[in-house]
Amino acid sequence: MNQHSVSVSTSIKPLSGSPSAEDERLMLAAREAAAKAYAPYSKFRVGAAALLDNGEVVAASNQENAAYPSGLCAERTTVFYANAKYPEAKILRLLIYAETDKGPVRSPITPCGACRQVLLEKEVAQGAPMRISLCGADDLYHLPGVAAALLPLSFVPKSLDGE
Ligand code: THU
Repeated sequence: MNQHSVSVSTSIKPLSGSPSAEDERLMLAAREAAAKAYAPYSKFRVGAAALLDNGEVVAASNQENAAYPSGLCAERTTVFYANAKYPEAKILRLLIYAETDKGPVRSPITPCGACRQVLLEKEVAQGAPMRISLCGADDLYHLPGVAAALLPLSFVPKSLDGE
């Protein structure tokens, strides 16, 4: 049996300097989306804004349900919405923002495992990195891509080939 070691490392750095106009556009869209979240159970409102390669910004929020597992996070709602609306478009960037009744979360949140898997599938399908931005009250982090920063050693469509 071949045994080779695999090592994984990831790091995120806060943005130094001011956000770009594009950052501001995505932050506004994500904040507006979060304000429309359906989160009566957690009261944790999340907004995600996707910048598509056709120039459109598509944003959506988390959608909860009394049967808790039936709800969906903002990231997956946004990717599915973007895919449903513009199936051919690539998602160049996805910015994620979250707030509670006390205001924006201080430290930016990162997507849950299930969302990472869905983001990865889109990234693989479009054949180009989807840059992720994480937005908190004081910090903005930019990640170079889903596979690169959020889901190394991932299960991808090619994994089904069994090679
Ligand atoms: N949530 C998101 O929408 N995105 C995340 O990255 C983490 C969690 C939602 C799911 C649920 O509606 C609420 O936040 C609390 O977990």
